[in-house]
This record gives sequence, C-alpha cells and structure tokens, in this order.
Amino acid sequence: MKIESIVIRNVRNLRDVHVRPPAKFNVFVGDNGQGKTNLLETIYLVSSLRSFRASRLSEMVRAGEPQADVQAIVEYQGLKRHYQVQIEDGRRKALIDGKNVRPVTKYFGDFNVVVFTPDDLHIPRGSPGERRRFLDRSVFNRDASYLATVGDYEKVLRSRNHVLKEIAGKVRGTSNHSSLLAMMDVFDEQLIMIGSKIINDRKSYLAELIPNLCKSFESITRNGLRVECTYQTECGSEDEFRRGMAASRARDLARQSTSLGPHRDDLLFTLDGHKAGEYASQGQLRAIVLAWKAAEIELITGTRQQTPILLLDDVSSELDASRNSYLFEYLCNTAGQCFITTTDDKHVLLAENRADFRVSSGEITLINSNI
Ligand SMILES: Nc1ncnc2c1ncn2[C@@H]1O[C@H](COP(=O)(O)OP(=O)(O)O)[C@@H](O)[C@H]1O
Ligand SMILES: [Mg+2]
Repeated sequence: MKIESIVIRNVRNLRDVHVRPPAKFNVFVGDNGQGKTNLLETIYLVSSLRSFRASRLSEMVRAGEPQADVQAIVEYQGLKRHYQVQIEDGRRKALIDGKNVRPVTKYFGDFNVVVFTPDDLHIPRGSPGERRRFLDRSVFNRDASYLATVGDYEKVLRSRNHVLKEIAGKVRGTSNHSSLLAMMDVFDEQLIMIGSKIINDRKSYLAELIPNLCKSFESITRNGLRVECTYQTECGSEDEFRRGMAASRARDLARQSTSLGPHRDDLLFTLDGHKAGEYASQGQLRAIVLAWKAAEIELITGTRQQTPILLLDDVSSELDASRNSYLFEYLCNTAGQCFITTTDDKHVLLAENRADFRVSSGEITLINSNI
C-alpha cells in the first residue's frame, strides 16, 4: 500500500503542502523546527485520527486558523481511496471518499502506519504510562476495535473516579450515599469486564509479537543475549481483578482514584533475566525498541497481507553506526513506503529508490528523485 498524494492545510506550521511521495523511500531533510515531525504527525493523523505527540488534536491546528484539513489518496490492493480529516473547534471529522465515517472504527483497517520516533527509544527506561501508550499504539495497529475498548474503559474509569470524589464530598452530587455505593458496584463490574478485555488484548498481542521481537533482537545484536518482555498486572484473571477491586476500595475512596486496572499495568523488558531498564546499555535498550518495531511491522504485514507505511522520525541520529546500518539494511529488504526525516542526510544509508525533499519553514519541496 502507498500514499499517492497528501495535501495538508493549516496543520501546525504546514500552511499549504502538497506532496506526491513515490512508492519506496521518501527522505525529508531540514534543520530543527522546520516541520519534519509535523509532516509525520499529519500522516499519522490521517491514518489513525490521532496524534503521536499531542494530547489534544486542537494543538495541531495552525495558530490563528480556524481549521486544519488533511487529505490523502491511498492505494491499497489496486484500489484508491480518499481519506480526509478535519479538525475544527477541538473536534475531528473523518471522511472516506467524501463521506462521513460512522462509527469511526470503520475508518481504520486498510490504511496502516507504523511510527518510530526518538521518544520510543527511551521506552524501556521511561515511565509506565509511556510504555502503556507505546504498547497500545501497537495493539491498535493490529486490531482497530481495540481503540473503542480503550475508549469505553476510560469512560468508566472517569465515572468511577467521579463517584469516588462524590462520596468523599469533594464534588456536589445529587445522589445519597447508598445509591453512590450502588453505582460504585456497577462501575467496578464494568471496569472488570472491559479492563479484562484490554488486558487480554494486550497479552495476546504480546504473545504474537514476542517471538519476532526475540528474533529481530538477535539479528541486530548478534551477542546471544536473550530479551524478554512480560506484561505486568495485578489483574491476571477476572476473578483476581474482582478480588483486587474489593480489597482496594477503601484505599481508592481515600485517594479518590482507581488504583487497579490496565491503566496501572506495565511492560517489563529483561535481558538474560535482568531488568533491562537497569542492566542494559543505551545501545542494547535501543536495539530492543528497534527489534520491537521490526516485529510490529512483520506482524501487520502477516495479518493484513500488506506492508504498512513506515514513519521514521529522525531515529538515526539516536542510533550508533552499527544499529543504524542494521536499520537501513532491514528497511531495504522488507520495507514498503517509508517517510524518513533527518537533520543530516549522511545518516540515511540509502542509495536506491529514494526521493529527497527539503523541509524549510513549513514548506516541502522535492529536490531529487531516482525512483
Ligand atoms: N499549532 C501550531 N501552529 C503553528 N506552528 C506550529 C504549531 N505547532 C507547532 N508549530 C511550529 O512547528 C515547528 C516545529 O516543527 P517540527 O515538525 O517539530 O520541527 P522539526 O523539523 O524539527 O521536526 C515550530 O517552528 C513550531 O513553532
Ligand atoms: Mg522533529
């Protein structure tokens, strides 16, 4: 699959951009602050209807403008579709071939993008929240309905936390104490049901990913070290979750927040049994993430029968020479269409099948192509 054309209006500093990327490697060179990440963020947006860095989509609208608009023509198995996203007044509108898409999950599935940013490289040592987001992005790419499940879970979690505050008298409610406690019981049960589904989805994703992750890690490092990745949760089964919820209710009431559930879980990476965050070198940690991304791409390629589009945001500058050459060797052998940004062209070890663009003050111009 490939993006044949992308038109961007008023996304961050991209005022009016039109790119026709060829099938293979698209390299975007520019100094810092010129709009390279903005371009990748925009491609991710039109594929996934989300940002990989902003928490609110309204941040993506160019300052002083009422609306951002992105349109992409995507070719997939000989079929061309027109994907469009608009952001206005903090709301997003998604269209395929000019028609509003409802429910929004129908938007996903055929237009798959995998993103790899320097922030990802810090995942093994980062916060649990960052690891959950990283994992969730991957799971969502495997199965778009996961997003709706996560949305439902977040809604119940917010409601439960609200009731905890009402009980503590921190917010004014209309219900009496016993009906609040009855509501808690309902929310607990919903949280357990939806939360267990999230945990299962994450675990089954990992079960599929990990063999590929280990294989890729070995071929990057060639040092015989064994990488492992385990999902850490106190809610391993529905029963355990239910017991945990009952046991933590008093604590939750005192803290007015929910202390148990997939929103508190974590991923643990180990190298030969040692916690990678503490034991591994910087280079090994990056190799783990690189291996994860390679495994993620393989998984999508296997399940969707197509190579996803890859967005690489200035990753090379964070990798040492040997990992960087592995990355490009890997890309040359397996990748489909790629969007690669860099501040320095010399990191990009590609000779063939590449088009070069310059990014400067939010303008993007083709400077060279050998495709
Ligand atoms: N909402 C916005 N409106 C206008 N400009 C923005 C907005 N958000 C970010 N920018 C600008 O985008 C630029 C950063 O772009 P970015 O893609 O991160 O750069 P880089 O090329 O280093 O990846 C900055 O100049 C910043 O001022
Ligand atoms: Mg950048």
